[in-house]
Amino acid sequence: MDISIIGSGYVGLVTGACFADVGHNVFCVDNDARKVEALQAGKVPIYEPGLEEVIHRNVSARRLRFTGSIQEGVDNSQIVFIAVPTPQQPNGEVDLSYIEKVAREIAGILKSYRVIVDKSTVPVKTGEKVAESIKRYNRHGAEFDVVSNPEFLREGCAVADLMHPDRIVIGAQNEHAIDLMKKVYEPFMAPILVTDINSAELIKHAANSFLALKISYINALSAICDASGADVEKVADGIGMDRRIGRSFLNAGIGYGGSCFPKDVAAFITISEQLGVPFTLLKEVQRINAGQKERFLKVIRETLWVLREKKIAVWGLTFKPDTDDVRSSVAIELVEQLLREGAHVVAYDPKGMHKARGIKAIADAEFALSALEAVTDAEALIIATEWNEFANVDLTLLKEKMRTPIVFDGRNLLDPETMRQFGFHHYSIGRARVRPH
Ligand SMILES: NC(=O)c1ccc[n+]([C@@H]2O[C@H](COP(=O)([O-])OP(=O)(O)OC[C@H]3O[C@@H](n4cnc5c(N)ncnc54)[C@H](O)[C@@H]3O)[C@@H](O)[C@H]2O)c1
Repeated sequence: MDISIIGSGYVGLVTGACFADVGHNVFCVDNDARKVEALQAGKVPIYEPGLEEVIHRNVSARRLRFTGSIQEGVDNSQIVFIAVPTPQQPNGEVDLSYIEKVAREIAGILKSYRVIVDKSTVPVKTGEKVAESIKRYNRHGAEFDVVSNPEFLREGCAVADLMHPDRIVIGAQNEHAIDLMKKVYEPFMAPILVTDINSAELIKHAANSFLALKISYINALSAICDASGADVEKVADGIGMDRRIGRSFLNAGIGYGGSCFPKDVAAFITISEQLGVPFTLLKEVQRINAGQKERFLKVIRETLWVLREKKIAVWGLTFKPDTDDVRSSVAIELVEQLLREGAHVVAYDPKGMHKARGIKAIADAEFALSALEAVTDAEALIIATEWNEFANVDLTLLKEKMRTPIVFDGRNLLDPETMRQFGFHHYSIGRARVRPH
């Protein structure tokens, strides 16, 4: 199939690369000229495991191209995917102006039938608006269909998720469009669920909100574990072994962040209110999530007493491991708060340093070149992202480097008993606090 994808970010670029890898001809379009130039020069602007190889392989095979021109993309494809940002506005609503702008642009250059697919995460009923908009600006009166095809990839394993999806959701109202979409996804051999457009849009918000709810559920339990002396990891194992519940997304920590969960939960709350059926349960999900970071900060303050001028190392800046994405990262919010309280923060992240350095709110932090450099003479270490590199740290060396061996483990990455044996004061989430003998 000939495909164009408008927006070459975490979703658009990975989707384009994987579509090309299964044999489609793909134009990735972006209006960020520097990004397009970099891609054309063989540079990959984001980090995702395996992505660079897939891109290089398909550029060499001439199945994957990059352009700044929507016209070039649309002219050379039967199906046009939209994967532009849908950020949150201050009132919780989704900013749909990126989608609307692209829809208008496509409409202006449409000369013959195309399927226009919304892959961005949008509130229910957006597809109807996109169709209206295209109809309004459709100068040549070309035929088209609008399809909703939400994306479920996880950053950090986006290529694997794209290549082996749990399911493909196609929201459409026209058999021809459904057939073309099935052809796009045939090589992936994944179950395909065909729905109406509104249901497809709703599935994405419902899925992300449910995952956020699962995280908040275990985080609320972690507070009860802290208060009662129970161990949240064991509780999670115990309930997770029930196949109706499952163990994934039951890891207690300092809360979810990232470019999707916070904005999608907020958007779902807003659209439900607009529809007259407020989804109040999700407000509690948000409240628990914000409270988790506050509980963690409280333990840090109680333990260190005064933060001003204390040297605090922070491991992890990305919102999750195996990505360079620092958007709405809880780790960044923690660093910001520690700086506000006068601490001297030395941060390190395996892949997120470049993007973190660009964030004004944490400009006063020091950035170390390695995890061990960050902890040198530190009075405390905060683990804010669960990178493997941190789990495998040499604990003897870590203890030697620190001025005082205090570790606040915001992701329950290290084993409390091992930490005790190595002589650390180790604080984690919902597990018994340990002090060395
Ligand atoms: N990141 C994820 O894990 C993920 C997963 C599933 C769904 N989504 C959804 O997918 C959408 C895109 O997310 P993302 O993380 O890829 O965003 P992103 O910011 O990484 O990428 C968006 C890209 O679109 C480009 N763009 C913006 N306006 C454009 C225009 N008018 N023409 C051409 N290009 C334009 C930007 O330059 C950028 O490169 C969002 O709706 C998001 O909610 C994201």
